[in-house]
Amino acid sequence: MNVEKNLDLFVQLSKELILDEEKNPVVRPIPIENLFEEIDIKLNEDGISDEEFIPILRKLIFNTPRTATKMFFNQLFGGRNGRSMLGELLSVVLNNSMYTYKVGGPQIGVEKEIISKISSFIGLNPETSEGTLAPGGSMTNLMGLIMARDQKDPDAKWEGVSKKMTVYTSEESHYSLPKNMAFAGLGRNYIRTIEADDYGRMSVEALEAAIVQDIKDGFTPCMVNATAGTTVLAAFDPLKEIGYLCKKYDIWFHVDGAYCGSVLFSEKYKHHIDGCEMADSFTLNAHKMLATPLACSIIVTPHKDCLYESFSNKASYLYQTAEDDYNPGKISMQCGRRNDTLKFWTLWKSIGTKGIGQIVDHEFELAQYGRDYVADNPNYTLYNSGDSIAICFNYKGIDPKVICNSLYEHGEIMVGYGKFREQEFIRLVTVNSGNQKEDLDRFFNRMESFVEEHLLVQ
Ligand SMILES: Cc1ncc(COP(=O)(O)O)c(C=O)c1O
Repeated sequence: MNVEKNLDLFVQLSKELILDEEKNPVVRPIPIENLFEEIDIKLNEDGISDEEFIPILRKLIFNTPRTATKMFFNQLFGGRNGRSMLGELLSVVLNNSMYTYKVGGPQIGVEKEIISKISSFIGLNPETSEGTLAPGGSMTNLMGLIMARDQKDPDAKWEGVSKKMTVYTSEESHYSLPKNMAFAGLGRNYIRTIEADDYGRMSVEALEAAIVQDIKDGFTPCMVNATAGTTVLAAFDPLKEIGYLCKKYDIWFHVDGAYCGSVLFSEKYKHHIDGCEMADSFTLNAHKMLATPLACSIIVTPHKDCLYESFSNKASYLYQTAEDDYNPGKISMQCGRRNDTLKFWTLWKSIGTKGIGQIVDHEFELAQYGRDYVADNPNYTLYNSGDSIAICFNYKGIDPKVICNSLYEHGEIMVGYGKFREQEFIRLVTVNSGNQKEDLDRFFNRMESFVEEHLLVQ
């Protein structure tokens, strides 16, 4: 298939889509039972002509949820930044695999620069620290857990796990933690879910009590996972206190900063991760707060040796030139690995570290603007406060599930709901740095008139 012709088609379809998104930022979902009838998705023995193919492709694209628009608040990613999109598209055109210098060339340098800068911002020594990327925060969290496991039970990678090892994480942490316990062979039953305080932050007292009890009972505490930006409330666990506890009991300290670890770029908000310099591993998703397309999940560790111990393997068919340092396949979970840093680099290089910091600040300011609106309006109930890029609220006492699902079904707005303790609420996130205050005004106005029209009529 002719590449140039397909590139032209790509530009044409993308432009059409982006124009249409301005008028229709949300598409009505196709009922699942009609999906294969409405769009010709099925694959057949024979191919089709361009005249047949292009309308099918257009229909598929135009009916796909619009997660980059100003009315998408449903998950912890969003928006479309031209400069990072350019990097992503070029990495597709280049199609390097990031395991060797021979195949990745200067792209390996791009990755190394990003990892080294992030390490130094966290306060790690760039000489002894190292990092890599994996396809998402769940996977970078898994990498942290595997290093923790291998440090406590060095034979685990040869003989299988031989100790009963326990891992600690708050009840508000991400669901990748229990899954990863199973993947790492530690067992879901050995995760200790630690209670959170009224703001959704892990209780350090409860954490220490759980560790002490486990040691008494003969378990080996292996890792504490602290979250910088919990999935629902976007709360920050107290990293400093947790870091000291990890030192005291000799436990691997992992910081899951997938959601809001990016505050490290902001002079104003980086104090929320004070103590991160004590981390044994730290993850950050540029595809959440930092205007970068999915996925760009980075893990850094002060223990370069641990990354090698847990993830390297000989492969003479692969490693044929260059030093280990420039063959990042040796510290990666994968073999073939797509280039996930060029898109972050094109943005960072263009707007500088200051510009990245401004993105972070803007998202916090947007969230505060939204919370102020909610707090000042008696029809709303607000469920969170303080520095957070989530706005958690209910409107007129209506079930948040009903509001969110009706908005989705009518193709109005994509926003989701969350739960803290027994309270369910709408969770509006301000990760789309392309949004402005007017876009939040538009969200509230549309939601309010939708509720009046569709949910409050008798
Ligand atoms: C706190 C936290 N950690 C990890 C993840 C997983 O990241 P990913 O979706 O990139 O796997 C998320 C996703 O929302 C998250 O909120």
